[in-house]
Amino acid sequence: MDYKRLIKYAMPYKMRFVLAMVCMGIYSAVAALLVYLSKIIMDGVFVDKDIKILALLVLCMPVIYAIKGLADYGRCYFLNYVAQNAIKDLRQDLCVKLLSLSHSFYVKNTSSKVMSRITNDINALQEALIKVPPTIIRDSLVIIGMIGGLFYLHWRYAFIIVVVLPVLGLPLAQFARKLKKASKDSMVQISEIYTSLQEILSGFSVIKSFCKEEHEEKRFAVNNKEYYNVQQRITRVDARTTPVMEFLSMTGVAVVLWFGGKDVIDGVWTLGDFTAFILAITQMYQPIKNFAQLNSTIQKAVAGSERVFEILDEKNSIYDLPNAKVLDSFSKDIVYKNVNFSYEKGKQILRGINIDIKKGQTVAFVGSSGSGKSTIANLVLRFYDVDNGEILVDGINIKDLKLSSLRDKIGVVSQDVFLFNDTIKYNISYGKMDATDEEIETVAKAANAHKFISKMPKGYNTLIGERGMKLSGGEKQRIAIARAMLKNPPILVLDEATSALDSESEKLVQEAIETLMKNRTVILIAHRLSTVINADKIVVIDKGCVAEVGKHQELLDKGGIYSKLYNLK
Ligand SMILES: Nc1ncnc2c1ncn2[C@@H]1O[C@H](COP(=O)(O)OP(=O)(O)O)[C@@H](O)[C@H]1O
Ligand SMILES: [Mg+2]
Repeated sequence: MDYKRLIKYAMPYKMRFVLAMVCMGIYSAVAALLVYLSKIIMDGVFVDKDIKILALLVLCMPVIYAIKGLADYGRCYFLNYVAQNAIKDLRQDLCVKLLSLSHSFYVKNTSSKVMSRITNDINALQEALIKVPPTIIRDSLVIIGMIGGLFYLHWRYAFIIVVVLPVLGLPLAQFARKLKKASKDSMVQISEIYTSLQEILSGFSVIKSFCKEEHEEKRFAVNNKEYYNVQQRITRVDARTTPVMEFLSMTGVAVVLWFGGKDVIDGVWTLGDFTAFILAITQMYQPIKNFAQLNSTIQKAVAGSERVFEILDEKNSIYDLPNAKVLDSFSKDIVYKNVNFSYEKGKQILRGINIDIKKGQTVAFVGSSGSGKSTIANLVLRFYDVDNGEILVDGINIKDLKLSSLRDKIGVVSQDVFLFNDTIKYNISYGKMDATDEEIETVAKAANAHKFISKMPKGYNTLIGERGMKLSGGEKQRIAIARAMLKNPPILVLDEATSALDSESEKLVQEAIETLMKNRTVILIAHRLSTVINADKIVVIDKGCVAEVGKHQELLDKGGIYSKLYNLK
């Protein structure tokens, strides 16, 4: 994996990292000093019965512990500072990337999978950034210091301990392997839980209406159990580490205890050296344990960062060319020239589309569902690029236009309206954030929305809940229309804007749409043919091809697909 890439994120905070390292150094030195002091206590106070040394130690102890505590606080604070800032920057980059990616990414990746990467996987990275440096720096310093101390105190016994250490490493390394596998599984499982939860949250109404609560409960329980099982595997391995380690190391200590203890009784080894020796061994437990877990922490972070960087490396096909032209205003026409298009390779959706939409015209697209009408509309917004042929706006290929200048000129109102979990005012002003209250009210009135908004408890400042849960379909639609009016684009795409509504609210929405359409060039996709009768041009799409073009009466007289569709009604 790309350690360099991760380090790049930590680089801006390298000064704090150096401070953290200094703290770790101080901490290790103090730990060694404490072991040495235990020797002095034993020999000086308990053996030589020197009250002055005792007094000195009593005075020193709080100071030493204060230094040790400060050093540990510093390590913790500075490392967290570096890690959290690096992760914050990475998360921001991820968000910027997600915003820049085109529609094709979101067709491939479900939102819950993306969510799991940006929250859970990134946490694994953060944990590694906080845990790995102390182990590598502080813990290795402590281990080196303690081993040095052991040899200083008694090199032959030290030798026994140093031989036992690698034996300790064997089971620990095996535990680490198991942990690594389990953590990878756990990441996959938690993402399954996210997916399952997300479906429950967004499919709530469907679940309720089909009375499938129990079914969903069971489905979730399966995922939940799987995740639990993985967590249990992790716990079992994790909980084994300390006892196994203590058992093995105690065997070594017991040997030293027997011979060393006899030496103390025989008067050939001082009590202080003996105590310090045993203390030094116990001081190595935690650092060794940390080393044993280092691999699993790193492996988790590797798995996490691979998934995170995968998103950052995602190629975006839709972007501004270096010399992109700015479309100042829309003044002539939109032309589709021999456009072929497919979402997936080998599955062609549009074939040889030729359409010409003059400024000010309303051009209607009709055809059975799945024939490719929405796709044609989405192509002019350049949500996807065409495979062959070109789409020209005012004679310029839209691939050569600055994306924002193109999309600025187009307003979209479609069947499913998305509203943000914010106030009505915020939602209407989304296309013009600096709009005044008067402007907002004017468009709301024109969109037949002012009446119902004023009846709400807080009027324009009413929160409308996630996805506009508190509004009816027609009300949402009228807010979307007001939003489009305020943006005031010269080109308008209406994609079956009224087809999901009952006739009562359709009338209000239809009126609003007619107001919105005034003085604009309109691409009108309509399910109900009654709404397209007045269009300047009707284009009949059949299986991805233009089948017929003409005005209402012409097409009726022709007796082709259009007249069949019209008479079906
Ligand atoms: N994001 C997508 N990925 C793959 N196929 C798609 C996607 N969107 C639409 N399609 C397919 O393209 C065809 C045309 O869809 P669409 O343009 O939405 O039809 P219409 O609006 O006329 O009902 C359909 O066969 C549909 O399954
Ligand atoms: Mg459609």
